[in-house]
Amino acid sequence: MMPSAPFKRPNLLTRIPLFLCGLGMFYLIAIYSRPTEAQLQHMRLVKSLEPFLERASLPVDRTNRWSDDDRAAAFGKMLFGDVRFSSSGEVSCATCHDPTRSFTDGKRVAVGVGTGTRNTPTVLGSARQRWQTWDGRADTLWSQAAEPMESAVEMNFDRVSAVQLVRADPDLLAAYENAFGAMPLGLPPPDWNQKARPVREGAPADALSLAWDSLVPSRREAIDEVFSRMMKSLGAFQRTLDAQPSRFDQYATAVCARDDAGAKVLTESEARGWIVFHEVAKCDQCHSGVEFTDGEFHNLGLPGADGRLPDDRGRHAAIPKLKSDPFSSAGAFSDDANGKQATLVRGLKSDPESWGQMRTPSLRNVGLTAPYMHDGRFATLEEVVQFYDLLEGAVALDHHRESVLRPLGLSDGEKADLVAFLRALGGTTRPVEN
Ligand code: HEC
Ligand code: HEC
Repeated sequence: MMPSAPFKRPNLLTRIPLFLCGLGMFYLIAIYSRPTEAQLQHMRLVKSLEPFLERASLPVDRTNRWSDDDRAAAFGKMLFGDVRFSSSGEVSCATCHDPTRSFTDGKRVAVGVGTGTRNTPTVLGSARQRWQTWDGRADTLWSQAAEPMESAVEMNFDRVSAVQLVRADPDLLAAYENAFGAMPLGLPPPDWNQKARPVREGAPADALSLAWDSLVPSRREAIDEVFSRMMKSLGAFQRTLDAQPSRFDQYATAVCARDDAGAKVLTESEARGWIVFHEVAKCDQCHSGVEFTDGEFHNLGLPGADGRLPDDRGRHAAIPKLKSDPFSSAGAFSDDANGKQATLVRGLKSDPESWGQMRTPSLRNVGLTAPYMHDGRFATLEEVVQFYDLLEGAVALDHHRESVLRPLGLSDGEKADLVAFLRALGGTTRPVEN
């Protein structure tokens, strides 16, 4: 009998190459199915852009019952552009928030009846902000409007004259009544022309504030009722001025849909700029999310004039003002004085950390709103990026400066890409006004 071994031998011999062949195939499949570096990069890109596929609708403002009322918005629009609501008869909201300049003024600091110390932000998209102004001393869009009208450097008007003007002008009165019905009882006689406004938190008493104090409380209440409705109308109007989708949003949609042709809506430099923003410089640690802001306050350590410490207290000074503001979300004229926002305001504390802090601005439309920063110190986006790159002259205020900021050391190409990206955040259509 032939041993059985010769049978087994060829069997084993054929199995080894078969095994090796299988191993080789497996290896090849593994190599070819492993994503390449370019594919991995694309997957990361898609993931980073997915949040931009969906933009939340405007947050509901429960503190303003008329926030989405078209009649109130129509009245607010009339107020927004009316220069008669200023002591000089020359300044309206639209003087500084000029619709032809993306609702800014192009100036370093705002110039109204006087000259201010802060740069005029756009009002595009401000309905999405929890805090208004650089230091957040207003916590609703409508309540913010009270200050410019009465501020000595902005419109320098007074609320009694404002109410009397609405009553005396047939068009304004009709628009008011259309939204709110008849004027409340208790107002002064229509021809009464005493100017009066309350003293602002931290300011000394003056003739106007003494005149206000001399009014009987019921009259002050009636005036404040009309004045607050004017503000709520301005709030309703400004809600129609949302920041519109940008080319960057179109790019995000195209990339996520694997639409290569659509993705060309951004130039290569602009597209690379997003990577610099998101991955290299990590600007979205603060300019985060779809609105490019965390909505919170930070101190970048921007140096004061002549190397001195900055003297703008920012958030630190804003908190006491906000807490004492009768028009805040927690105040008597709020339509949701026990709501979430009101509770938040009541709990705010002006701790040392808040010294010099400013609100992270949204970067939507930023290419259209030069100059930059709360004091308008940088004329161009190039200068802003240069600051972040080197943090030159940045004041280290112990723990007050943000610890996440560090010099970036970007290349010239990266800086140019970053600026190009920022410019691609402008709205591609004009906001729809009522
Ligand atoms: C003299 C120029 C000037 C006038 C007039 C003016 N503003 Fe402003 N506005 C500014 C400046 C400056 C700021 C920033 C203030 C700050 O941070 O202290 C601002 C801030 C705002 C903000 C907050 C935007 C944000 O992103 O924080 C809104 C909303 C606004 N103004 C609406 C109005 C309305 C409504 C009126 C008219 C009642 C008005 N402004 C009149 C210059 C002006
Ligand atoms: C620590 C939080 C933080 C980081 C990180 C950060 N920013 Fe800012 N950014 C702010 C704050 C706060 C302001 C307003 C500062 C002020 O006016 O004092 C601001 C202002 C700006 C402005 C001016 C906007 C305007 O309307 O005036 C631009 C542009 C800007 N940042 C871009 C960037 C870029 C680009 C990066 C990344 C290189 C970046 N930021 C990183 C918080 C931050």
